Amino acid sequence: MPGVYQMSIDILVKKCREVASAGIRSILLFGIPECKDEHGSSGFDENGIVQRAIRAIRADASPLLIITDVCNCEYTSHGHCGHVIDGMTDNDSTLETLSRQALSHARAGADMIAPSDMMDGRIGHIRNTLDKEGFSDLPIMSYSAKYASVFYGPFRDAAQSAPRFGDRKSYQMDPANGTEALREVELDIEEGADIVMVKPALSYLDVLYRVKERFNIPVAAYNVSGEYSMVKAAAEKGWLDEKKAMMEMLLSIKRAGADLIISYYALEAAKIIGTARE
Ligand code: PBG
Ligand code: ZN
Repeated sequence: MPGVYQMSIDILVKKCREVASAGIRSILLFGIPECKDEHGSSGFDENGIVQRAIRAIRADASPLLIITDVCNCEYTSHGHCGHVIDGMTDNDSTLETLSRQALSHARAGADMIAPSDMMDGRIGHIRNTLDKEGFSDLPIMSYSAKYASVFYGPFRDAAQSAPRFGDRKSYQMDPANGTEALREVELDIEEGADIVMVKPALSYLDVLYRVKERFNIPVAAYNVSGEYSMVKAAAEKGWLDEKKAMMEMLLSIKRAGADLIISYYALEAAKIIGTARE
């Protein structure tokens, strides 16, 4: 994925300083473990990569709000977001590991948990677990309307998380279905989500707009890896002015209703916005 690298913890801590001084207030962490197994157990290891990263950023007295992506696909040998039984991803038995992972992030000091797996009922399950374990104040940002999109391709390369067989269509949403997003968002709010997310952003601005109009809750949009990489590639070829394309893309997501944008362009955009303010 162009310009995006896997970081060791020492480099991450330095990067966080740069990010914070550019005026960005929060980061979203993804982990790539040393070992993967069928159940993704490195995902809820107290000394796992994300858990150690959180503690290191905290130890550096970073002002950043630390959000963690909670999912199994980076930690499972088969690359699926849940438990695989007879070649099928099993919804209910996945909830336990998701909750364990969320809890371990909370214990390490995360400020917000962001489950990206799309299993049914996981927001309620995670909320219950966090509440029982003394983290009732910890907010959840749910990947509520997450479509089965080809635009995740560069991320899966970067995170080595492509499924080894099959696809994610049994748990991620059908790109043809807009109304289902409203049902998914409604359920997540009922189960306790504090922020809901639409993902990807650009091909789903209509969904983003509908969610923002319909629900009185902060809405996040994820400007995903493929959206970012398309602009990068066109810019490299000299076909697009990268900075202008980036800003127009981000602006369109904001205009459609995003209260929060997750983007690989965050640092570059923050530098431009910061300079404009001065
Ligand atoms: C993990 C996860 C993915 C992304 C965020 N969390 C990959 C996937 O669902 O395949 C995609 C991010 C991107 O493409 O930028 N479930
Ligand atoms: Zn996943």
